[in-house]
Amino acid sequence: MGGARDVGWVAAGLVLGAGACYCIYKLTRGQRQGGRGFRLRASRSAEDLTNGSHDDVLSGDQLQKLLYLLESTDDPVIIERALVTLGNNAAFSANQVIIRELGGIPVIGSKINSPNHSIKEKALNALNNLSVNVENQVKIKVYINQVCKDVLSGPLDSAVQLAGLRLLTNMTVTNDHQHMLRSYITDLFHVLLTGNGSTKVQVLKLLVNLSENPAMADGLLSAQVDSSFLSLYDSHVAKEILLRVLTFSQNISNCLKKEGCLAVQPAFPKGSLFFLLYGEECAQKMRALAEHHDADVKEKVTVLPRF
Ligand SMILES: *[C@@H]1O[C@H](CO)[C@@H](O)[C@H](O)[C@H]1NC(C)=O
Ligand SMILES: *[C@@H]1O[C@H](CO)[C@@H](O)[C@H](O)[C@H]1NC(C)=O
Ligand SMILES: *[C@@H]1O[C@H](CO)[C@@H](O)[C@H](O)[C@H]1NC(C)=O
Ligand SMILES: *[C@@H]1O[C@H](CO)[C@@H](O)[C@H](O)[C@H]1NC(C)=O
Ligand SMILES: *[C@@H]1O[C@H](CO)[C@@H](O)[C@H](O)[C@H]1NC(C)=O
Ligand SMILES: *[C@@H]1O[C@H](CO)[C@@H](O)[C@H](O)[C@H]1NC(C)=O
Ligand SMILES: *[C@@H]1O[C@H](CO)[C@@H](O)[C@H](O)[C@H]1NC(C)=O
Repeated sequence: MGGARDVGWVAAGLVLGAGACYCIYKLTRGQRQGGRGFRLRASRSAEDLTNGSHDDVLSGDQLQKLLYLLESTDDPVIIERALVTLGNNAAFSANQVIIRELGGIPVIGSKINSPNHSIKEKALNALNNLSVNVENQVKIKVYINQVCKDVLSGPLDSAVQLAGLRLLTNMTVTNDHQHMLRSYITDLFHVLLTGNGSTKVQVLKLLVNLSENPAMADGLLSAQVDSSFLSLYDSHVAKEILLRVLTFSQNISNCLKKEGCLAVQPAFPKGSLFFLLYGEECAQKMRALAEHHDADVKEKVTVLPRF
């Protein structure tokens, strides 16, 4: 394993590019001066950074070491720990910038292709924390297609599926990259209807974000959605789901009311969300919810326009 890591240090330098040159220079000098012992110590200290001995915020140098380690090791345990440490550090806005400037986003992003779901999940979590920064989002958006495919094919209700959904939700906080999700909407509804409570809430966070964007309205309304969608409006449904479903309908209908919201008035296909939301069954459910025992639910229904 030591051999693979040695090759990796060189490869990491090539991938990380200009910003890393000085450090590579220092490392190779160190090797020449200190011999093998120095290099082993250097790589061990990078591993030390991953095992909880450093709970504090890491410096730029330490983050760089960690990225080299991540790039060069084949050991799944170390990869996972490096990703967790990087993810925790990416909770701090200064580190979000440093990791991007060190070229760290592609290093972390490449790990979402790992066949190991535990590693995939940690990579998604780290990207999620990095995505709080808008400039980072520009680099992270290249992974959106892959993440969508993984979310839709991944084991239902798994940790890795939730991690992917959280990342997609954070990537849709602004309207900039939402169009990339357009072709996955119908499948997202399928995950919504088949997933358990945790999954439903996370898909709804994502759909609510999309519903805020008038440019996504026709994509949402024309999606083929199973009629079991309407059971989300039943009065016994958990409040955190019910409120989000109501917000979603409210945003969509606000958009439809606004003139010119839909560029052209599309003829929504049979079986589309449009026909579910504007059908008699939905209207009945809304009337029932207007009598709901929970004041928040009641209030949301009364501000909804007549369906
Ligand atoms: C972290 O790992 C290194 C070896 O990789 C070990 O020497 C050190 O004691 C570990 N620290 C903790 C806190 O486990
Ligand atoms: C996946 O990674 C974890 C550590 O992160 C490791 O314990 C596990 O053995 C790996 N699974 C496979 C199939 O490699
Ligand atoms: C991400 O950031 C949150 C705080 O915003 C933190 O609690 C979490 O541990 C961080 N790490 C990962 C891997 O998500
Ligand atoms: C984005 O993800 C981070 C880390 O998981 C989280 O702390 C934050 O609340 C998320 N932001 C939004 C707007 O969802
Ligand atoms: C959903 O399923 C996952 C995985 O089985 C489980 O960990 C989680 O607690 C479940 N959530 C709910 C609300 O049932
Ligand atoms: C997107 O969803 C997140 C999490 O629910 C929320 O914090 C954020 O305000 C939403 N953004 C928009 C534009 O709806
Ligand atoms: C979407 O719903 C939320 C919550 O009701 C509201 O604050 C927001 O203004 C709505 N957005 C649009 C575009 O209607």
